[in-house]
Amino acid sequence: MNFTILRFDSVESTNTEAAAQARQGAAEGLCVIAEQQTSGRGRQARTWISEKGSGLYFSVVLRPKFDTRYFPLITLMAGVAVHDALEEFGIRPDIKWVNDILVNDKKIAGILAETVDSPDGLAVVVGIGINLTSRNFPDEIAETATSIGSETGKTCTADDLAESLTPFLSYFYEILSGPNGPADIIAAWRRRSTYFSGKTVRVTLAGEVVEGDTDGLEENGALRVKISDGSVRIVQAGDVERVRPNG
Ligand code: BTN
Repeated sequence: MNFTILRFDSVESTNTEAAAQARQGAAEGLCVIAEQQTSGRGRQARTWISEKGSGLYFSVVLRPKFDTRYFPLITLMAGVAVHDALEEFGIRPDIKWVNDILVNDKKIAGILAETVDSPDGLAVVVGIGINLTSRNFPDEIAETATSIGSETGKTCTADDLAESLTPFLSYFYEILSGPNGPADIIAAWRRRSTYFSGKTVRVTLAGEVVEGDTDGLEENGALRVKISDGSVRIVQAGDVERVRPNG
């Protein structure tokens, strides 16, 4: 993939900007990076706190050629790429289904993939937020979030991170687009995530909470959760929390 990077001082959301670019015909590989987002978005309509210079706020336009039923794997593919980019900075992350990159159970990065209808067909915007410093964390996330600065004691710029991230994105996207793409990405995700199987989790679905043990992924990346009666629930979308043995 050839990357073209558009840099902004401030945007509402790099995903919104990249989606607008995709609607205007931007080619695959168009990236938007901003110093700051004024309305950074997370999954489930949450806010992604995006203070100036505190994180990498990055979105890339993809124009996948594979079947839309595998589009959910794009989030997993991006998670694998972020995981490996963070390793280059000396961090050993975990990936919590579906899109949370964790270090010692604290969130360091998140991914928000959104489909966009464009005159050139369906595009996918993959938004990635990675915390560079914990300095500006508001109280509500101070206990549950971490950053490259906190984990390594070193400073790293958004540009350093983007430079490390883009080759991994390109590499794993090629794999996902290849003949055995879905299985290969699931295998790559499995090697990097303790959530793949045997993890006791509570999953919040629309209007329902399910507790059980993770039991692998479906071929489209949906999470399998084995509940106490032995049946398996297939989770296509939901929030996963780890359940610790004593509570
Ligand atoms: C999540 O964990 O809920 C997903 C967070 C995704 C945040 C990134 S920051 C760059 C891009 N622009 C956004 O508005 N969101 C994503």
